[in-house]
Amino acid sequence: MDLSYSKEMNMKARNMREKNYQYVASHSSGTDLDSKYEKLAKIGQGTFGEVFKARARSQGKSFVALKRILTDKETEGFPITALREIKILQQLEHENVVKLLEVCGTRPSATNKYRAECFLVLEYCEHDLAGLLAHPNVRFSLGNIKMVMKQLLNALFYIQCKNVLHRDMKPSNVLITKTGTLKLADFGISRMFTPPQAGRVNRLTNGVTTLWYRPPELLLGERNYGPSVDMWGAGCIMAEMWIPTPIMQGSTEQEQLALISQLCGSITPDAWPGVRTLPLYSKLELPKHHKRTLQQRVQRHIKNQEALDLLDQILQLDPSRRCDAGTALNHNFFWTDPMPCDLASMLAMHRTSMFEYFHRKRGKEVGQMQQVAAER
Ligand SMILES: Nc1ncnc2c1ncn2[C@@H]1O[C@H](COP(=O)(O)OP(=O)(O)OP(=O)(O)O)[C@@H](O)[C@H]1O
Ligand SMILES: [Mg+2]
Repeated sequence: MDLSYSKEMNMKARNMREKNYQYVASHSSGTDLDSKYEKLAKIGQGTFGEVFKARARSQGKSFVALKRILTDKETEGFPITALREIKILQQLEHENVVKLLEVCGTRPSATNKYRAECFLVLEYCEHDLAGLLAHPNVRFSLGNIKMVMKQLLNALFYIQCKNVLHRDMKPSNVLITKTGTLKLADFGISRMFTPPQAGRVNRLTNGVTTLWYRPPELLLGERNYGPSVDMWGAGCIMAEMWIPTPIMQGSTEQEQLALISQLCGSITPDAWPGVRTLPLYSKLELPKHHKRTLQQRVQRHIKNQEALDLLDQILQLDPSRRCDAGTALNHNFFWTDPMPCDLASMLAMHRTSMFEYFHRKRGKEVGQMQQVAAER
């Protein structure tokens, strides 16, 4: 390798390491993680790090979740995703958004191969929605579903007021405490955005959001998007509350667009004025002549007319016609009997924590569900 190039890379890496660690150091509590928390079990394996259940060693002995931040392999620097997650979580304070308690590091030791590690210390939630939906014995009543959706939309309404886009809506990022409070989590790829103003456009990356929950505008290369991208994900999650598998499971972006067209109708300028301006619209072969079949396709599972109507308003192809969180919260779905009802009593029947991680593991390795003792 060219020596001057590798020297320059080393310098860059060192600068980046220093800059990032300075930021984290200035925002971390400065105490050693192991002296403050006792790790109990691994509860999650995300793309960006592992998540552990832990107990505070202090008098309260409360539970917390520790999300380990993997340092960038090449630069050993602090990943930008983790920095964004910290910065954004520090600005958010809402009952339905997971709370970042502190950022805490470990001292270099033999157990971490002499590489200091950094953790987000988060309030602990006993369940994630993916785990609950995958569990054969968990049944959400209509009132329960309304409560889940109400809290999810409350979280979206709040973050949108704070100009934050979550950009990774999916059931495994929706946590629920044993007392039934929903907490939107995983702000790893979230971002601040500029609200639409005359003459100002956002140039955001469109390669975000897990494919199955990704809205059509992102699949068509839109970079000037807004909160409606999260609403699409909320719609997919809403359908999953009745049909406990993801409703559109494409394996490529092209296939995902085809599935969206089959459900929501062909993507045409008639159905979506302005779609022609999207970068990939004319480059991709989009399915033609599909009628919108959403209501017919889901009504076997969703018997409630208000639910069908709200879902129809959320899963709109055209983001400008897609229902926003505030409008959704005012929909009759939430204001007709059965009213949203507390999740605590339903969850009380399930005394163990359920996380998607263990379900995924079950499929691959163990054949029988592993559960983390909830120690209630
Ligand atoms: N505060 C918490 N309390 C309990 N469990 C949590 C908490 N935070 C995360 N988890 C569990 O860990 C999993 C992974 O966490 P998270 O989504 O934040 O990480 P990630 O690396 O960004 O994941 P991915 O890329 O897979 O979405 C979650 O799906 C959830 O099951
Ligand atoms: Mg996640």
